[in-house]
Amino acid sequence: MKHWDLFLAPYKQAVEELKVKLKGMRSQFDLQGNYSPIEFVTGRVKPIASILDKANQKGIPLDRLELEMQDIAGLRMMCQFVDDISRVVELIRKRNDFEIVEERNYITHKKASGYRSYHVVIRYPVQTIQGEKKILVEIQIRTLAMNFWATIEHSLNYKYKGQFPEDIRMRLQRAAEAAFRLDEEMSLIRGEIQEAQAFFSMKKETNKKTDG
Ligand code: GTP
Ligand code: MG
Repeated sequence: MKHWDLFLAPYKQAVEELKVKLKGMRSQFDLQGNYSPIEFVTGRVKPIASILDKANQKGIPLDRLELEMQDIAGLRMMCQFVDDISRVVELIRKRNDFEIVEERNYITHKKASGYRSYHVVIRYPVQTIQGEKKILVEIQIRTLAMNFWATIEHSLNYKYKGQFPEDIRMRLQRAAEAAFRLDEEMSLIRGEIQEAQAFFSMKKETNKKTDG
């Protein structure tokens, strides 16, 4: 539908631009030969059906979507270790190309579902031929383990429409605890892991030089 294309265009543009910008942060760490607290970045525009579902569920009138739905444009930044998350949040706070509207820490305050992540909602200026348009974008920062759990839970949520059978709900809780412990264990051997990763990236560089 034409109307949706027009409405979603700035969101698409924002997601594309922010993917380049946030992936660019990772490349800068790589270029300097430093460990990157960002493992990878993804982005998406919420599908129209999901926008409508959520608006319906939350009682958001469609003419208030741009004010009240914060995650029509969404970016995700994945980290290897829990400690990387605060570094990434700091990097985001220091940027001058958008303003932070809200931060939600579901790591110190995990959700009842077991969900953990750090959310930063920003107001991002998109340059259009009609001038500047500021839109809301949600950036979710999480570890690989948090992402694994959230991805699985999200697909199950889709299947059961949020109404999990009791056994599944229990399993998800236990899986959330296991993901939490995995993050803790990895933090404890972080030094070891990083030495190994630095060694491998050095070897790759040396091979590149001798091959080329
Ligand atoms: P939403 O209606 O989901 O936007 O809730 P909210 O307005 O309270 O915002 P919140 O920060 O809680 O959630 C925003 C986004 O976080 C969601 O769109 C999901 O991507 C993610 N999220 C929040 N809670 C959960 C959860 O329990 N499971 C999963 N898989 N993702 C979640
Ligand atoms: Mg929200």
